[in-house]
Amino acid sequence: MKNVIVGQSGGPTAVINSSLLGVFKTAKDRGADTVYGMVHGIKGLLDGDVVDLSTRIKTDLDMDLLKRTPSSFLGSCRYKLPDIEGNEKTYDKIFAMLKKLEIYAFFYIGGNDSMDTIKKLSDYGEKIKSSIRFIGVPKTIDNDLAITDHTPGYGSAAKYIAATTKEIIRDGLVYDYPVVSVIEVMGRNAGWLTAATALAKGEDCEGVDEIYLPERVFDIDKFVERMGKLLKQNRSIVIAVSEGVKVADGRYVCELSDHVDYVDAFGHKQLAGTARFLAGKVAEKYGVKTRAIELSSLQRCASHIMARIDMTEAFNAGGAAVKAAFEGLTGQVITLKRVSDDPYMCITEPADVHYIANVEKKVPLEWITDDGANVKPELVHYIYPLIQAEIAPLWINGLPRHIRLHATSTIKGKK
Ligand code: F6P
Repeated sequence: MKNVIVGQSGGPTAVINSSLLGVFKTAKDRGADTVYGMVHGIKGLLDGDVVDLSTRIKTDLDMDLLKRTPSSFLGSCRYKLPDIEGNEKTYDKIFAMLKKLEIYAFFYIGGNDSMDTIKKLSDYGEKIKSSIRFIGVPKTIDNDLAITDHTPGYGSAAKYIAATTKEIIRDGLVYDYPVVSVIEVMGRNAGWLTAATALAKGEDCEGVDEIYLPERVFDIDKFVERMGKLLKQNRSIVIAVSEGVKVADGRYVCELSDHVDYVDAFGHKQLAGTARFLAGKVAEKYGVKTRAIELSSLQRCASHIMARIDMTEAFNAGGAAVKAAFEGLTGQVITLKRVSDDPYMCITEPADVHYIANVEKKVPLEWITDDGANVKPELVHYIYPLIQAEIAPLWINGLPRHIRLHATSTIKGKK
C-alpha cells in the first residue's frame, strides 16, 4: 500500500495549489493508492481531519481550476510542533495517525517555519526507525528560504506588486497638486517583495521614487527630510516600504503607531500600519495629501495575474518532492537552482531540511544602494525572469472561477 499525505502551511500564495497538484498528480502517476490531504496542515492531522483528495479532484477541469485558485485549497495553519524531547506523546500521536492511514510519504508545502515541521518529523522518524519519508515543498511570497534560488509564490506576488505599482504611479500623477503615496509591501524581515516595486520603472513609467527594505535600519527623521526634498522636485511621489522596516532600537516602524498585540505560534508579530504611520508623518510635516496603500493579502492571492513561470515551478516542486520520496529520500526540501539566466532556466534539487528550517534569507546588502533608499540593477535582473508569462483564469460570468474544498469532503466531515 502506497498512500501519501500532503499539507499546506503558513501564509498562502497564488500558486500554492499548483504544488498541491504537483504532489497529487505525480503521486498518482507513480502508483500511489490514496493521496490524503491534511485539512489545516499538521493541526488538522492531529485532529484527525484529513481528506481523500481523489474525492474532490476528479476531472481535468478540477485540476485546471486548482492551479488557478489562490490561497491554500486544504486550509493552512501556523502551528509549531513542540521540541521532540519531553513531547514524545505528540509525535507518537502523529505517527500513530500516519500508521493508521498507512502513509508511505508525507509532504508539507510551506516556508521556513513550516519546514520546522518536516525537520522535527523526519528527526523523530529516524529516532523511532520509521520508514515514512518526509519531504518539504518550498512556498512563500517572502522569498526568504535559504539555499533555493527563489521560492514558488514569490514570482506571482512580485508580478502583482510591480504591475500594481505602475498603476499607482499613473494614478498619482492625475492632479496638479502634490500627492505622496506610500505603498506597504509584505515580506516580513526580508525585502525581496518590496524590491519588486523597482520593476515598475520602464519606458512607459517613471518608477517609484524610493524603496526601503528591512535589511537596512530605517531612520524616520531622515525619511521625512528626504520627502521634503522630493516634494520640491516632483508633484507625485511614490514610496515603497517593507512592512518589516525597523528603527535603530529594533522596533518595527508599525509598532510605533499601532498597538500590535497579535503574535503567532512562531513568535511573529503581525506587521501592518507602516505606510499609514509614515504617510501621517509626511502629512503632519508638509501638509500635503498622502495615501497609505497597504497591499496586504491582495499581493498573495492575485491569481488573475499569476506568473506562468511561477505556476510551472510550483507544480514541478511538488512533483520533485514525490520523486525524491519515492526514491527513498527523507528530511529534504526541494530547492530551485538557477542554471541559466539567458535563457532563464531552473532545475529542482533536494537539500537537507536542517539548513532551511527556521532560517531567513535576506536581500544581500550589496544589492541595496548606499543611501538605503533604493535597490541596485542586479536585484532587478534577478527578479525579472520570475514574473514572466501569464496564465488566464477560467472566467465565468465575468469573474475568475475557483475550486473549493467542502467541509463534507473531509473524512472527519463525513462522520
Ligand atoms: O509569510 C508570508 C506572509 O504573507 C508575510 O509576508 C506576512 O508578514 C505574513 O505572511 C502575514 O501572515 P498572516 O496571514 O498570518 O497575517
